Amino acid sequence: MYKDKKVVFSGVQPSGVLTIGNYLGAIRNFSEFSENYHCYYCVVDEHAITVRQVPADLRKRTYETLALYIACGLDPEKNTLFVQSHVSGHAELGWILDCYTMFGELSRMTQFKDKSAKNADNINAGLFTYPSLMAADILLYQTELVPVGVDQKQHLELTRDIATRFNQIYGDTFVVPEPFIPKTTAKIMSLAEPTKKMSKSDENENAVVRILDPKDAIIRKFKRAVTDSGCEIKRGEGKDGIMNLMSIYSAFTGKTEDEIEAEFEGKGYGDFKLAVGETCADALAPVQAEFARLAADKAYLEDVMAKGAEAAARDAARTMSKVRRKLGFIELKRR
Ligand code: TRP
Repeated sequence: MYKDKKVVFSGVQPSGVLTIGNYLGAIRNFSEFSENYHCYYCVVDEHAITVRQVPADLRKRTYETLALYIACGLDPEKNTLFVQSHVSGHAELGWILDCYTMFGELSRMTQFKDKSAKNADNINAGLFTYPSLMAADILLYQTELVPVGVDQKQHLELTRDIATRFNQIYGDTFVVPEPFIPKTTAKIMSLAEPTKKMSKSDENENAVVRILDPKDAIIRKFKRAVTDSGCEIKRGEGKDGIMNLMSIYSAFTGKTEDEIEAEFEGKGYGDFKLAVGETCADALAPVQAEFARLAADKAYLEDVMAKGAEAAARDAARTMSKVRRKLGFIELKRR
């Protein structure tokens, strides 16, 4: 679509405040893409309604998610930041791609199985076809690269299959995207169960550190982090909790694991946990201050949304017109 630049697209649900895992593993690094790629970052409110939402909360979190993106360093002048429901192409292409996505494929999605177990009273069709709407998000912009967590890899593989299938039937229509899973930052694990990924929807608040948590909460959560019965700050078998804290400390300070082990030699878990907590809180303080300023400025956020939606809709329209033509839909001439 852009002859000069390749496209990056990523989406985030406006549900729950993002965690330091989202920050360290993803958002913090997004701003680097904007030099070499045309980047779209989308708040996916249409995906959010696959589980029940309180409308006022959804609205509030949509503003906040956008504000948080900007506070984490995504400049709206350099990236297209927008809200999914403001660009009708997503839902439109989502329906079309539903017709090129197999029941069996959707049935194999682990996120669907997990979410339907959690929402047994509301296993709606949208929850089932969630991945084809996600494919639409991505394919609409002829995306090359999709920064996502490992948990979204299966959805991305399905997106590639859908794109390839469509291209085989109709000739080249969509760019087949690649996942971009950052390898530099290790996965950030839950503080309560350090063999499980830190998830923003975890019900145990002590398991997750959120970007907007106040300093005292951050320190308290790290103090309570589950570790082993040993006492040395070292990597090793059965030391998942300590190793997770080491990765977090390393991600915030840039120190290597060897350096961290040397720094805390002879010190106890308590000292280490406090150091990680303080480092994390101090690193997040400027993001939090910027978030507070932006979240209070709805007019500014709406301006960003409007400009983003306008740019995104223009780009989406090109793909949609191609898709309609290929499918055999009649395109009416403007009269
Ligand atoms: N499914 C993603 C998640 O839950 C969010 C998402 C929706 C997304 N559309 C996307 C991510 C497109 C990347 C690209 O995290």
